[in-house]
Amino acid sequence: MTTPIAPLTERPAWKALEAHAATAGSLHLRTLFADDPGRGERLTLEAAGLVFDYSKQRVTDETLALLLQLADESGLRQGIDAMFRGDRINVTERRSVLHVALRAPRGHSIVVDGEDVVAQVHGVLDKMADFAARVRAGEWKGHTGRPIRNIVNIGIGGSDLGPVMAYEALRHYSQRDLTFRFVSNVDGTDFAEATLDLDAAETLFIVASKTFTTQETMTNARTARDWALATLKDPEAVARHFVAVSTNAAEVSAFGIDTANMFGFWDWVGGRYSMDSAIGLSTMIAIGPDHFRALLDGFHQMDEHFRTAPFARNLPVLMALLGLWNNDFLGAGSVAVLPYEQYLKRFPAYLQQLTMESNGKQVTRDGTPVVVQTSPIYWGEPGTNGQHSFYQLIHQGTRLVPCDFIAFVRPIHPLGRHHDLLLANVLAQAEALAFGRTRTEVEAEGTPAWLVPHRTFPGNRPSSMLLADRLTPAVLGGLVALYEHSVFTQGVLWDIDSFDQWGVQLGKVLAERILPELEARDEPPLGHDSSTNALIRRCRTLGGK
Ligand code: F6P
Repeated sequence: MTTPIAPLTERPAWKALEAHAATAGSLHLRTLFADDPGRGERLTLEAAGLVFDYSKQRVTDETLALLLQLADESGLRQGIDAMFRGDRINVTERRSVLHVALRAPRGHSIVVDGEDVVAQVHGVLDKMADFAARVRAGEWKGHTGRPIRNIVNIGIGGSDLGPVMAYEALRHYSQRDLTFRFVSNVDGTDFAEATLDLDAAETLFIVASKTFTTQETMTNARTARDWALATLKDPEAVARHFVAVSTNAAEVSAFGIDTANMFGFWDWVGGRYSMDSAIGLSTMIAIGPDHFRALLDGFHQMDEHFRTAPFARNLPVLMALLGLWNNDFLGAGSVAVLPYEQYLKRFPAYLQQLTMESNGKQVTRDGTPVVVQTSPIYWGEPGTNGQHSFYQLIHQGTRLVPCDFIAFVRPIHPLGRHHDLLLANVLAQAEALAFGRTRTEVEAEGTPAWLVPHRTFPGNRPSSMLLADRLTPAVLGGLVALYEHSVFTQGVLWDIDSFDQWGVQLGKVLAERILPELEARDEPPLGHDSSTNALIRRCRTLGGK
């Protein structure tokens, strides 16, 4: 018999955290470090090639103990076991959540509805590897017999952000004589610019869509087909220039893509958890099957760490608990993700979908309102660029913005002093945020009295430092899995369904209604609110209807 889990704010640890936050929440990092000279080493963990220094978070040992108690009282152990077992923990869609199976090594077994899904995963990986190798070697020929040299991924959301992020992150490992483009937006500019300088005879489109019904993707895919056939003329050319990645074979066929050229995945892979499934086909073509397998291995190392490490030494669990502390007890409404690695420039955008589509929820799994704040807003840019832009607010603004710094000890491109400068900056930013510059220190520098308040930094701004040796496919896998499991952990604590996304539906439905109203020859009766009606009329008039 398991004890039923109490609503979040009635759990003993939650109540204790509320009382604790009243005092500990205002402790200054200067004091915490002064009182414990070993804090920096003590509050640092290492797993799957990532070092996680969380000593500059505003927590005491008691805070950590209470957060860990909250994890236990929230049934996190059972939650993790249920996910890895393939239970249907996506309750509103009645689906298993098994992205961990996508990176389980060959020979492992996870059985869902009587099928060993790991064997299926490896079947698809082998097919992808064969295809990727042929494209990379120039053996996959286009309709006119010329080898494919350009790969255009058409997808949106999870069918785009993971592939783009991974391509950019691992560009150093990519085959440089192939050109990669990513088209996501239904704005025709995206397609037009992506294909402007491409020759259709050498271009392969990967239409990536879990459902194969997404309006943007299908619109772009039809435009791509028209674009290709305008040059290649023969409808037979589609077979050599279009492949699909989807769970929906019927729609893939209906579009005209031979299902022999389809790479499948399964309904137990959420879109935002799919970059390591067949959705990663463009990544595999770019970096090759061996590097792709290294990426999967990095994911798996973090999966195993998450599944087996005690919570007090568990990197995703601690990251999640610290995030929850900042969000729900210190009142921080956002998290800045600050990679000091130019190749990770799309990582914050990728994390936005992962975190906010997963945990931007207002009701618990049984449909009752959540009474605390759920997902914070994730945002960010690579350092050092952000330092000359929004860091001012993080240092001296009135809001508390916890930061995730991400840095690498060794550069991909050792160029003069660049990397030392980069590292010096990231370490300095974390130090400045934590310790600031006191009024006394500023005065001691001889600053005129009127300028002192402007030059004072309050400090006590929390941050974590994620440090790895070098950005490799395996490290990227570990990094993504870290955030995936951290998001999952927070979802368990808030008792929300982190794997559905009903909130994106309403806008889609209304757009379907507005589209014919914009396109009608004569103005149709408009039944929206007065603002929407007027805007539709204005668009029609200015658009020449
Ligand atoms: O609209 C949201 C969403 O469903 C995402 O969750 C998903 O990643 C994206 O659309 C794309 O969906 P699909 O892969 O089915 O085209």
